[in-house]
Amino acid sequence: MQFTVAIDGPAAAGKGTIARAIAETFGFAHLDTGLLYRAVGAKMMMRGRGVIVPELAEKIALELTEADLERDDLRNARVAQAASKVAALPEVRAALLEFQKSFSKRAGGAVLDGRDIGSVICPDADVKLFITASDEVRARRRFEELSRKTPDTRLETVKIDLHQRDIRDASRDVAPMRAVEDALLLDTSKLSIDAAVAEAVALVKKRFEKA
Ligand code: DC
Repeated sequence: MQFTVAIDGPAAAGKGTIARAIAETFGFAHLDTGLLYRAVGAKMMMRGRGVIVPELAEKIALELTEADLERDDLRNARVAQAASKVAALPEVRAALLEFQKSFSKRAGGAVLDGRDIGSVICPDADVKLFITASDEVRARRRFEELSRKTPDTRLETVKIDLHQRDIRDASRDVAPMRAVEDALLLDTSKLSIDAAVAEAVALVKKRFEKA
């Protein structure tokens, strides 16, 4: 059985939580594609001493290993910015393309979340969701998440980080973040996590039962 769920949307809209819940409910494999770009961004910062060098970023992307995805610093805001920057490089996206495409075709079903899943990675996905939330709600959620690990996190800084990434991720030339025409839109601004998950699971269930 092959069944693919593509989830896109801006940072902190709830994509990750929803993707994990769908994977668990239906027994699908889950890939957080943002982690791939975060891993490349983190290594690029180290090896390029803060400078992004496209050829080196491409090499890092081509040589990425599972262990690179398990680093515990991938969730911080500096790495998020570096991820968004390397993600704008066509050579980096090309280097990560095949891995994501083949993951999406796994037997037993797959759910992927990111920015270009419905548009580039899985244009034929069985379900496409575009998850959004207001800027204010997303900033608060990310602030709460980051503050747990880093108590001196500032809400203003989180807002700026999200805003800069939204603009960069949506305006780049290659695979910009966008809601494709056949995506189901889910605005989680006024929903609790449980309610957002329940709605997304119900949307997938409808299609899954027909498949
Ligand atoms: O989902 P995230 O916030 O962990 O992603 C980090 C960055 O990676 C994000 O700002 C843009 C980039 N990204 C992307 O360009 N395409 C994807 N499919 C996933 C993430």
